[in-house]
Amino acid sequence: MKDKNCKLNIKVYETLTSTNDEAKALLRASLDNIDTLKGTIIVAQRQTAGRGRTGRAFYSPKDSGIYFSLIYLQNKTHNDLITASVAVAVKRVIKKYFSIECKIKWVNDIYIEGKKVCGILTEGVILNGGKIGYIIGVGLNLYIDNTAPEEISTKACGILNSFTEGKRVINNKGILKQIKLTLIESIAEETYSLLEAPNKDDIIKEYKEASNILGKKITVHSLVNDKDFYEAVAVDITGEAKLVIEKESGERLTLESATVSLH
Ligand code: BTN
Repeated sequence: MKDKNCKLNIKVYETLTSTNDEAKALLRASLDNIDTLKGTIIVAQRQTAGRGRTGRAFYSPKDSGIYFSLIYLQNKTHNDLITASVAVAVKRVIKKYFSIECKIKWVNDIYIEGKKVCGILTEGVILNGGKIGYIIGVGLNLYIDNTAPEEISTKACGILNSFTEGKRVINNKGILKQIKLTLIESIAEETYSLLEAPNKDDIIKEYKEASNILGKKITVHSLVNDKDFYEAVAVDITGEAKLVIEKESGERLTLESATVSLH
């Protein structure tokens, strides 16, 4: 499943505002020799302004999670399935190393037992010739414990929490570093392999099967104004990873982007 031909170039920083910002700056500074950035991954031990979709802050302190951005250059002008492919890649890697079955909340969040463990932020930069270079930011929580603010600890969890009842039992820095590196490399390899896969149907099938909203009542919030929302049922996810919802009136809409919350 892994693309062994994809050579990774991992750059690790102690502190960044956001790995997506650093990756974007690198992309913009390399427009004339863009191919040198293939397989580049920007990693930060901590982010001072980690962010998610709609500009929300992403909690990113040192040793609590893994924060990284992949650079993805492709020959097509656009790709609908980038975030869905990354979500499936993260889900597979968590299953492989921790035997945990995650759920995916459309469009970019990974959940374990009702709590968010990972968020994905995909952004584009226009390259020479009108193509788009993608920055794929992944924030994967390792530990969420009582050092986290309450609004985080009630809604988020870490993958290592499941095994240690919330205690930080891996104190050896070398081992923690190796765990992080293995996860980053595995997620990157799985992601690149899915992004290049000729048949996208299997990706969407897996994405839908892991959905925690399909068939459920949800609240749909506009991306522009969070106070603009309505109730609906999540009916389907299309081949382009769009969400089909049905309003109480029976009207059906296909959403390209929005934020949804579960009841
Ligand atoms: C979300 O929750 O909506 C997405 C969160 C994405 C967080 C990651 S951490 C690495 C990269 N850098 C950022 O500033 N954001 C992404």
